[in-house]
Amino acid sequence: MTLTVALSKGKLLAGSEALFRRAGLPFPEGEGRRLVVSHGSLRFLFVKDMDVPTYVEYGVADCGVAGRDVLLESRSDVYEPLDLCFGRCRLVVARLRGSGFDPHGASTVRVATKYPAVTAKHFLERGVSAEVVRLAGSVEIAPGLGLADCIVDVVETGRTLEENGLEIVEDVAGSSARLIVNRASYHARRDDVACLLETLRRALP
Ligand code: PRP
Repeated sequence: MTLTVALSKGKLLAGSEALFRRAGLPFPEGEGRRLVVSHGSLRFLFVKDMDVPTYVEYGVADCGVAGRDVLLESRSDVYEPLDLCFGRCRLVVARLRGSGFDPHGASTVRVATKYPAVTAKHFLERGVSAEVVRLAGSVEIAPGLGLADCIVDVVETGRTLEENGLEIVEDVAGSSARLIVNRASYHARRDDVACLLETLRRALP
């Protein structure tokens, strides 16, 4: 029976495709706009990265590929059996370069981010009162324009921070792509899921 796999249309897509092809698994050809594509024994859903855990948690997809950053934010109730070892990045707190802004020295800090839950938890655990401003992207411009004192965002190469005049204050969490599995599918479709897991595991670097 067909397994449904939710994949991010974003930064993790190229790494997911490379891994599936290396593993000899089916993967849709071409650059079409169809968002639900069956290919061989798999059916793929191409969705926004933050939605991958949702499709898996609700059982619409049996499995998915999601970044640990997204999983920390979504707090979805899914199994996370495999680190896929690509899409490595860090979630960090960053401030305007040379500003000396100390988020732990301020009575209240305003933080712009695409990761409001992770951000609130990070500052709460450090006893800092944080006002979290949720943005959908381009978070790096917020401090320079006076929207926030600092940001929490993903850093991969560091280029976006650099080019927007920001510097890292501290790490929040490390991240990489993870295979996630719906809890019911993990048991009810044990053989199919185990086969997919093993095939992917053998193709890891
Ligand atoms: C992510 C992240 C940073 C950038 C980091 O953005 O939010 O802006 O990548 O990568 P770098 O360290 O290699 O420069 P994304 O491309 O997902 O765009 P958006 O957040 O602006 O939508």
